[in-house]
Amino acid sequence: MRKMYFVAIVALTALAFGANATERPGHAAIASAHKLATQAGFEILAEGGNAFDAAIAVASTLSVVEPQSSGIGGGGFFLLHRARDGKNLMLDARETAPAGVDAARYRKADGTPDRDASLYGPLAAGIPGEPAALVWLAEHYGKLPLAKSLAPAIRIAGEGFQPGAGFLEAIADHRAQIARYPGTRKLLMPNGEVPKAGWTFRNPDLAATLERIAAQGNDGFYKGKTADLILKSVKAEGGDWTAADLAGYKVVERAPLDFAYRGWKIVTAAPPSSGGVALEEMFNVLSGYDLDQLDRPQRLHTIIEAMRRAFRDHNEYLGDPDFVKMPLETLLSPAYAAGLRASILPDKATPSSMLPATVAHDPGMHTTHFSIIDADGNMVATTQTVNTHFGSCLVPPGTGVFLNNEMDDFALVPNAPNAYGLLGSKANAPAPGKRMLSSMTPTFVFSPERVGVIGSPGGSTIITQVFEGILAFMHGDTAAQITATPRYHHQYLPDVVYVEPGAFDATTTSALEAMGYKIAARGHWGFMNVVTWDLRTNKLDAASDPRRDTGLGEVK
Ligand code: DON
Repeated sequence: MRKMYFVAIVALTALAFGANATERPGHAAIASAHKLATQAGFEILAEGGNAFDAAIAVASTLSVVEPQSSGIGGGGFFLLHRARDGKNLMLDARETAPAGVDAARYRKADGTPDRDASLYGPLAAGIPGEPAALVWLAEHYGKLPLAKSLAPAIRIAGEGFQPGAGFLEAIADHRAQIARYPGTRKLLMPNGEVPKAGWTFRNPDLAATLERIAAQGNDGFYKGKTADLILKSVKAEGGDWTAADLAGYKVVERAPLDFAYRGWKIVTAAPPSSGGVALEEMFNVLSGYDLDQLDRPQRLHTIIEAMRRAFRDHNEYLGDPDFVKMPLETLLSPAYAAGLRASILPDKATPSSMLPATVAHDPGMHTTHFSIIDADGNMVATTQTVNTHFGSCLVPPGTGVFLNNEMDDFALVPNAPNAYGLLGSKANAPAPGKRMLSSMTPTFVFSPERVGVIGSPGGSTIITQVFEGILAFMHGDTAAQITATPRYHHQYLPDVVYVEPGAFDATTTSALEAMGYKIAARGHWGFMNVVTWDLRTNKLDAASDPRRDTGLGEVK
């Protein structure tokens, strides 16, 4: 029944909310965290590819030029909109735990978390999903052969490029970890030191690995030479992946979450992302208020309380839908939202300790999001990651592939926060083949007049940044304004509102403090990449987060 209802709603909204076969922008927009990746996407569009081919080019090029953020040794979520039939889907390329996963290996003898095990080396890595996503996209949605769409990444990996300051800082920050692994050391600190500006970074082994994927599809990564090299290195460094772990990896096509808010339709990431569930809960709470009628402190109070409540449920209930039963019907129901609203005090912060469930960490600049709309109105929102900078810092020699450290996104030790200060429950405990919960929230926002494609990195702050970005888009902000607006974040625990300098003026800050909020400044936010489509004028707009200078949002 629920499924029929869902199908009917999707069909109706595809008709009501533009972006269908009769509308096409006639030009394209791409926003990504790196100029070379955006250009690679346009190169593939110029060769006759569609948004899905361009997504392969952007994603694989980001693997090469931003290995600190994402890559074929990691995973991600690809949210797709196919113009031909209005179909929306989420390609889930999240990493999985290997069959030999053993939670005890992430605890020290005294029972406290072993952060080194969950963040560095082979135990930190999940089985990568990104290569299978690229292959799937080419086989099911693209117009061009995979080899063509991978060509820009292969070329750049071989020829090299000059990394910007962020890349070099990431190497400096992780020099000790990088030095532990010969494959990584050779690539990133070829002279035993952190390279200086002007250095050309080449990764010919990654070019060769991408060539094997281009020629053999999944077998080019999950079997044969690449798999052998990965398994050898994982074993040498104390991990225990098997050939079956790699050969058995599968991407999953999932129905995205799809909900309405004040005449808008939001299509967003489904579990194993927690982001869509949190977004829907937050918008359901907001739907009981007229935000435009509230003054700024009251408006922020309402939004922050919605964040607090959504994150409480995030910690408690969410995990891999193939492994855990989640009370989604309840969490996403109007009655539940009404209950949450009733618990919001009019002029006072609710202490998180009063709601029946650490430490905050700076999310830094890793993980990446890109947004694409092509000339036909196909759309892609992808958030992809190796988790923290350079993932596990383990590059199996001969592969050029940075293995992720996504295992840290599991609740490995009960009640111990992960790298983003997130707590988890049994729902997110590790198990063989299970996907770890993610905050990545690639999202489409539709109205009969405007369409937005939005997403961001930022660990747990992804969810609130996307939430604020959607509110700004609904408010009428341009792509550049959406990406630039100063941000704020609350995640239930710790019970603090994190604020980017400039987000709240002094009067607003005092008003919120008087309500009982603890407010703390936080430096790192972003890197949001947004494209929008005005259906009334048929104009596209694109912007890359101004907080870093490597990104490029472009309309062509
Ligand atoms: O999937 C997740 O939620 C995290 N692994 C994402 C990490 C991230 O966004 C780091 N970015 N700054």
